Amino acid sequence: MSIAPYLASPMPVVRRMLMLAGVKPGEIVYDLGCGDGRIVITAAKEFGAYAVGIEIRKDLALKAMKAVEEAGLTDRVKIINANLFDVDISDADVVTLYLTTSANLKVKPKLERELKPGARVVSHEYEIPGWTPVLIDEFTEDSRYRFLTHRIWLYRR
Ligand SMILES: C[S@@+](CC[C@H](N)C(=O)[O-])C[C@H]1O[C@@H](n2cnc3c(N)ncnc32)[C@H](O)[C@@H]1O
Repeated sequence: MSIAPYLASPMPVVRRMLMLAGVKPGEIVYDLGCGDGRIVITAAKEFGAYAVGIEIRKDLALKAMKAVEEAGLTDRVKIINANLFDVDISDADVVTLYLTTSANLKVKPKLERELKPGARVVSHEYEIPGWTPVLIDEFTEDSRYRFLTHRIWLYRR
């Protein structure tokens, strides 16, 4: 079941999320609801990570797979067309989210069950209710026509 609609994170936000999470070469990044794959592709291309994107919508998963192929990253990025609740994420060093607050509440028990100590979770716009963030970043994107402010929540297990 889908728990959030599709909306892409702007690229400056993607880079800032990965930077704030301190993604290092060789680490494993999961994007739960990966849309067109931009976060996992950027994690591999610009941060040297291995990355897994999970996406429930077939059309988006196929788009993400195509983008991974075009970027020449099939050895570093895997796209899984599935419900995120059905995929084990216990090898994650970093998990990225751009869902909704109520969706984060649903994902929270999975994160608490599966993530190893020290794993980071970075959420665009929406908090994980009940968790204490390491930091809350207010990020103003100078887009072409207007300034847009985004909030990024960083957590550590
Ligand atoms: C707001 S979009 C974020 C896309 C991408 N992470 C980004 O930041 O650009 C949320 C995505 O989560 C996907 N999604 C919603 N529920 C899901 C579920 N249960 N399992 C996997 N993907 C899901 C939606 O189809 C959508 O593509």
